[in-house]
Amino acid sequence: MTLIDGKATAANIKKEIAAEVEQIVRNGGKRPHLAAILVGHDGGSETYVKNKVLACEECGFTSTLLRFEDDITEEFLLQQVDKLNNDPDVDGFIVQLPLPKHISEQKVTMAIDYRKDVDGFHPINVGRMSIGLPCYISATPLGITDLLARYNIDTCGKKCVILGRSNIVGKPMAQLMMQKRQPGDCTVTVLHSHSQNIKEECRQADIIIAAMGVPNFVTADMVKPGAVIIDVGTTRVPDASRKSGFRLNGDVKFDEVADKCSFITPVPGGVGPMTICSLMKNTLLAGKKAIYE
Ligand code: GUN
Repeated sequence: MTLIDGKATAANIKKEIAAEVEQIVRNGGKRPHLAAILVGHDGGSETYVKNKVLACEECGFTSTLLRFEDDITEEFLLQQVDKLNNDPDVDGFIVQLPLPKHISEQKVTMAIDYRKDVDGFHPINVGRMSIGLPCYISATPLGITDLLARYNIDTCGKKCVILGRSNIVGKPMAQLMMQKRQPGDCTVTVLHSHSQNIKEECRQADIIIAAMGVPNFVTADMVKPGAVIIDVGTTRVPDASRKSGFRLNGDVKFDEVADKCSFITPVPGGVGPMTICSLMKNTLLAGKKAIYE
């Protein structure tokens, strides 16, 4: 079994990005600039955004964090989005989700200029991805395809089971794994909370991508010997032995599945670090105007 080291892979990619940024700046070009909007004080979102800002520093990007209280109106937030859309110094930006209940995430996502949508959530980017056109690809699925590529995992003709159908992981992941390219060229099955025969479907899979947010869902009896296991789960579970009071738990029962598979991503240190790294890749593309003018 090979442990897929997302932390080390992400560190290498960030070094490659930093080297390219220094080259751009030496040649008189502009440092890529990522802005992030954070609304409220959700613990998970605070951590993600803090790590995004730190990753910008590692990559040599300029970053701007705009923080607002959770009682702001939808109209106010849409005005802030519009300001960033029209700020020529900002190459790309994100609005951290989830948003407070009284604000429509869909409306906000649609209001972001797709040319600055480095999260890849805007329907134009989602649509372009599904037909294989250059676009910003949602960070977690992009990070997973990078891991498969960097570990030379052959996906052609393989049966890939994706657990979960979210807009930001399951659905785009399915699109990418069925694209005509490597990684890709898979026969893809998407399973979700209403699916039947989940165990049997998983047992036939050469690749399982678990992204349903149910800790320890994938057990050894669901895994074909030699399968590739990608664990996207990051559920916070209480753990009194940690300073933070919690630990992150994946969707895969790691200890029993690890003995049976060919490759596996740990939690933490697998997909998680790659997700932020993919946002940095998208921001570099935005800085270079590599996809849209
Ligand atoms: N919330 C959880 N994941 C993400 C992400 O990738 N982008 C944004 N904007 N919010 C998130």
